[in-house]
Amino acid sequence: MRLDTILEKILLQIDDVKKLSSISDALSTLKNAVEGRIRQSKLGKLPVPAIASFDNSELLTHSILQYQSPWQHMKITTVDIPGMISQEECRYYAYIGKFYSGRGALVELGPWLGRSTYFIVEGLKENPNFTDKKLHVIDDFVWRSSWMNDKVPPSEQLDDHQDFQFLFDRYSASFCNLLTVEKRRISLYDGNEAIPLLTWNGSPIEILYVDCGRTFDANQAWYEQFCHSFIPGKTLIILQDWGRHREVPVQWFNQIKQFIDSKAEELQLVHELRYGDIATFLFTGK
Ligand SMILES: C[S@@+](CC[C@H](N)C(=O)[O-])C[C@H]1O[C@@H](n2cnc3c(N)ncnc32)[C@H](O)[C@@H]1O
Repeated sequence: MRLDTILEKILLQIDDVKKLSSISDALSTLKNAVEGRIRQSKLGKLPVPAIASFDNSELLTHSILQYQSPWQHMKITTVDIPGMISQEECRYYAYIGKFYSGRGALVELGPWLGRSTYFIVEGLKENPNFTDKKLHVIDDFVWRSSWMNDKVPPSEQLDDHQDFQFLFDRYSASFCNLLTVEKRRISLYDGNEAIPLLTWNGSPIEILYVDCGRTFDANQAWYEQFCHSFIPGKTLIILQDWGRHREVPVQWFNQIKQFIDSKAEELQLVHELRYGDIATFLFTGK
């Protein structure tokens, strides 16, 4: 008898909603683990185009949910910028910048107060291909007190929908010479109706760091704006919120996997962090 038929029979014996919900959660967790193994086994074997670090000491290779990753020993400094990213994610941002060749622009969507920006810049600073270049940083800078206030000290807690660019500017003051900062709405979201919509000048993009929403529409919005600027076999798209699709109980707004599944022909997974939510996709352009 098939496993799903057996399970269905067992479920018919249970009518306690709490028990049924915990079975549902356990199955979601198991599904995530199985899908993770599939990505490891299937995608980990696909060839990656030769993308070398600036000093030619390393080639970009797959690392999908591995305990031992190429970035695990990356040394990072401590910095006093509030943020929503894990230690492994900070390490990853500091690692990936060495693969920047200078062929296209570097764009970050959703820096909040600049913690991710700081580590992205850490990864680029030593790279000679970044000399005379800037990281383009884009956010609507609209404060959402329900999920932002608890991550800053009381003196920096703002009113809902208040402009918070002054906080970003304060926290990024020591490296603002390496940034071009734009206040833009990437998609319509909670209080940003009056902010001008994101536009792009069409120049090629080599690395795109994305942390600006988990819904399908939020991600589709930047994809449509930027996809003609992606370089096949070269552009890396780093999705900070990828791992949120594994959240259990499942939340309706965690739609980033559906978004990526809809782009399966164009994007190839190269990195997926084990201790964070980041995944990086190579634009294949097929
Ligand atoms: C989770 S926070 C980013 C955290 C940050 N990367 C860090 O290191 O802590 C998401 C950011 O995206 C911005 N954002 C969310 N939706 C947006 C939209 N539709 N347009 C522009 N910015 C948006 C928010 O203002 C916020 O700064």
